[in-house]
Amino acid sequence: MKLADLIARKSVVAWTGEAKIPWHEPGFSERMLREHLSQEHDHASRRFETIDEHVSWIHDHVLGGAAARVLDLGCGPGFYTARLARRGHACVGIDFSPASVSHAVSEAKREALACEYRLEDLRGADLGSGFDLVLMTFGEFNTFSRSEAKTLLAAVRSALAPSGTLVLEIHSEEQVKSIGAQPPTWLTARRSVFSEDPHLYLKECAWHPESHAATEQYFVVSLGSPEVTRYVSTTQAYSDAEYLDFLQAAGFAKTEKHASLEGSAGERDGGLFVLAARAE
Ligand SMILES: C[S@@+](CC[C@H](N)C(=O)[O-])C[C@H]1O[C@@H](n2cnc3c(N)ncnc32)[C@H](O)[C@@H]1O
Repeated sequence: MKLADLIARKSVVAWTGEAKIPWHEPGFSERMLREHLSQEHDHASRRFETIDEHVSWIHDHVLGGAAARVLDLGCGPGFYTARLARRGHACVGIDFSPASVSHAVSEAKREALACEYRLEDLRGADLGSGFDLVLMTFGEFNTFSRSEAKTLLAAVRSALAPSGTLVLEIHSEEQVKSIGAQPPTWLTARRSVFSEDPHLYLKECAWHPESHAATEQYFVVSLGSPEVTRYVSTTQAYSDAEYLDFLQAAGFAKTEKHASLEGSAGERDGGLFVLAARAE
């Protein structure tokens, strides 16, 4: 788009047109992998010391230390799957980011880990069957529309072994509302996840009461280019009761709530919390 299109832009209607940043595009995926691997921030993946704690809790408290078959949805570069495999679990990771999946594959090969990775879009993927644990972390569940999430939960339910567990790390309703309420802002960067070239990006957020979702729009202007590139990221909000209804409707019987992936019972971790739902 041109600057004139940006000035004449219309309000976003959530879940129509572009709703997700194209993490699966090769260039995006390479730039995103750099952010996943960075130990300076927690933007794409949490820092390794936090992931180590999450994996300890999952191994000890969710799996009771017993060897299990684990499926990680949106596994990224395989930080959770690799750690779980080192503890004796057999893991499958699915992600649509080519750079992340190839990083995960080469790490697994290097250490001969029991990990298998599939480069696939979760929307419509055959998830397989017989898993003791399905993981979906870091609020990724909320980046799917309600109907996509419903289809995904039904597929997860079929992928789980009897008495298997789904561990979902999701956004609180308040957190999603606060994403939508952020004021407009801008930033300059020599390079970022949006571009390898020096650029300016403008960010505009909105809360959409009709769909109960937040959008973040990014308008990226690279040095020396007249083009403005627009990206949209959408986050669906659910009340706690809606999450439970959704899980029950998909056939999950018993759901436990945890404040974080470390199992702590205290305050929620930056608006994310955990539901562990049993298939039976
Ligand atoms: C925030 S990252 C978290 C990665 C990993 N779970 C972690 O915590 O290190 C979300 C991941 O979900 C993946 N993802 C998002 N939408 C997807 C889709 N429709 N199909 C497959 N993967 C998807 C992205 O490529 C990204 O690797």
